Amino acid sequence: MHSVAEKASFSIGYPFATDFNYEELHSLLRYPLFNLGDPFMESNYGVNSFTMEREVIGFFADLFQAPKDNYSGYITSGGSESNLYGLYMARELYPDAIVYYSSESHYSIPKSIRLLSMKSIEIGSNQNGEINYNDLFSAIEQNRHLPAIIVANIGSTMTEAKDDISKIKNIVQSLLVESHYIHCDAALAGAYLPLLEGAPKFDFSAGADSIACSGHKFIGSPIPCGVIVVKKDNKEHLSHYISYIESIDSTITGTRNGLSSVFLWYAIKHFGKEGLLKRASECISLAKYTHQTLLENNIDSYYNENAITVLFEKPSGVLCQKWQLATKSGYCHLICMPGISKGQIDAFLEDFLNEKKSNKANS
Ligand SMILES: Cc1ncc(COP(=O)(O)O)c(C=O)c1O
Repeated sequence: MHSVAEKASFSIGYPFATDFNYEELHSLLRYPLFNLGDPFMESNYGVNSFTMEREVIGFFADLFQAPKDNYSGYITSGGSESNLYGLYMARELYPDAIVYYSSESHYSIPKSIRLLSMKSIEIGSNQNGEINYNDLFSAIEQNRHLPAIIVANIGSTMTEAKDDISKIKNIVQSLLVESHYIHCDAALAGAYLPLLEGAPKFDFSAGADSIACSGHKFIGSPIPCGVIVVKKDNKEHLSHYISYIESIDSTITGTRNGLSSVFLWYAIKHFGKEGLLKRASECISLAKYTHQTLLENNIDSYYNENAITVLFEKPSGVLCQKWQLATKSGYCHLICMPGISKGQIDAFLEDFLNEKKSNKANS
């Protein structure tokens, strides 16, 4: 246990909030709290947390401006399953479609495409991590006779870049693509971006058909979990009545853990939208401070607006391991998640700057 706490104090590279406390829910660990099948229909198995699961889905549906009388979804095992479900739904609607996704998409996107045996085209991205709209236009133009499924990154993994849904919509409309589906991967930013004033819109009113979000990222949970919000009428295509559970099965896994729904419900009640916004504002301030300090010390660093992620040139392997920094092409990022203190950031910066100094002295 000591080593877990020690490692947690140096964890600044992955998007997991640490400021949660679910100890009050401890007694639930004595029950096989499992959710079987669709949360919007009671099943024969009663030891579940469907009521809370529905409330959580309702909260996110509201955040994502989903049609009030036409939304559905469920609590998944994480952002990856949420992405798989979004693409599964899109494929059931448009079996001949091509999936367009960016080179900055999370690896769960190409993995889901492989699992679902879908046709796909990877589109290049701009320097900030956003999809290249010209390349997207050309790729769709060449296949305009086929339905288009577009995955928009609403916070890419490395730089937290947001693809512009209105530009994507304009592309499919200008090319007169008859059928299209937009899935938004908002694994990290989905739980706070809609709360920020002036932030880009990626919700259902802006054209999304499904939105994936992780639960253990910005909200925070000791068990990985996620949220998927879809349009209810689209769900009919993948709903099957299962007599064994006396319910509709429209989800990917069988027995789902019921604790995640309770954790997310508890966090949403605890923070409310105001509390989530306050946490996001604090994280954004810390990210801006980190970016500025890196620049002031002549370290190549990049920051996207409204993000809590800072990209910068990668330090040594020793420091990447100590601070658990994920790297890609000579760069790494740190993510100012709720629970990370300025003290931790300063301690990392001190390590990094000392390393830079000693490298310079030895060169
Ligand atoms: C953009 C994006 N999508 C999806 C995921 C996958 O989420 P999870 O780890 O919850 O499966 C991640 C994880 O980092 C991510 O950054």
